[in-house]
Amino acid sequence: MDSLEQLVASAVQDFDAVKDDAAALENAKAKYLGKTGQITELMKGLGKLDPEARKAQGALINAAKGRIEAALTARRDALADAQMQARLNAEAIDVSLPGRGRAGGGIHPVMRTWERVEAIFRSIGFDVADGPEIENDWTNFTALNSPENHPARSMQDTFYIEGNDSEGKPLLLRTHTSPMQVRYARSHTPPIKVIAPGRTYRVDSDATHSPMFHQVEGLWIAENISFADLKGVYLNFVKAFFETDDLQVRFRPSYFPFTEPSAEIDIAFGSGPLKGRWLEISGSGQVHPSVVRNFGLDPEKYIGFAFGSGLERLTMLRYGVSDLRLFYEGDLRFLKQFN
Ligand code: PHE
Repeated sequence: MDSLEQLVASAVQDFDAVKDDAAALENAKAKYLGKTGQITELMKGLGKLDPEARKAQGALINAAKGRIEAALTARRDALADAQMQARLNAEAIDVSLPGRGRAGGGIHPVMRTWERVEAIFRSIGFDVADGPEIENDWTNFTALNSPENHPARSMQDTFYIEGNDSEGKPLLLRTHTSPMQVRYARSHTPPIKVIAPGRTYRVDSDATHSPMFHQVEGLWIAENISFADLKGVYLNFVKAFFETDDLQVRFRPSYFPFTEPSAEIDIAFGSGPLKGRWLEISGSGQVHPSVVRNFGLDPEKYIGFAFGSGLERLTMLRYGVSDLRLFYEGDLRFLKQFN
């Protein structure tokens, strides 16, 4: 074996001898490739040779240098891999162990109401629909008989949003779930029998109003649906919801642009802490003919009712909560009582 071969072999041996010490590898490197390393010394010696021999010997030395450098890199990589593997082994976690915290989550009281309302209406054949919280002003107001600039719009203090939808209609956070009447009716054929629970928004904030709140819209449109059906459906609903037959419902004349006649629905419990007090829980009415027309239906042929009830309100009455803000403070002492 010539001396260059020996040099390469000895370098490889030195590198391999380094087990896990980066500094030791650098020392071994210096021995061959450093300023006074053996390869460097050989390079310096080239100057003494004549040009022909210098060229031939130089190429041989360079080839040996390349092999030594490759061996060094390979060893460096191997050591880094080994180090990573050791770390992975040392820091391995047993993913099959149970976690330390076992805090159980719960369902928010308003969501409980939402789920109960869905179940009750499904049981009497209502579909359940979901719609956008960012609505356009046509669907939220105009189609519901509140034309632009009409004072009836000010019944609902509105959060407008910059920009328009793809048809150029101004956008807002829906102030009620009633736009879902329009969306659902325009995409289904009668008989239409649906509820649409969801979030709604108004510029309003006190013990009984939150800027974000929940409503459930109800809509039943067919060829012969009357106020008597509304009364039957709603009475059935509140009895199921409050789990008592001992309550009364009354319809108090009111005004909404999209229903005519319109009524507030009040209930009174026959027993319990709220016994005998009339409590308003819903707006309602017979859907206005212009609105039926905006559904894309003939108001001479189709008729029916709509209602919109507050889910917070229903929740407060069911559980005896007096301040609506409690629902949104995230205080576990309050929330845990419902789970
Ligand atoms: N959208 C009305 C409100 O939020 C409630 C309502 C719904 C009234 C449907 C009549 C019919 O005040």
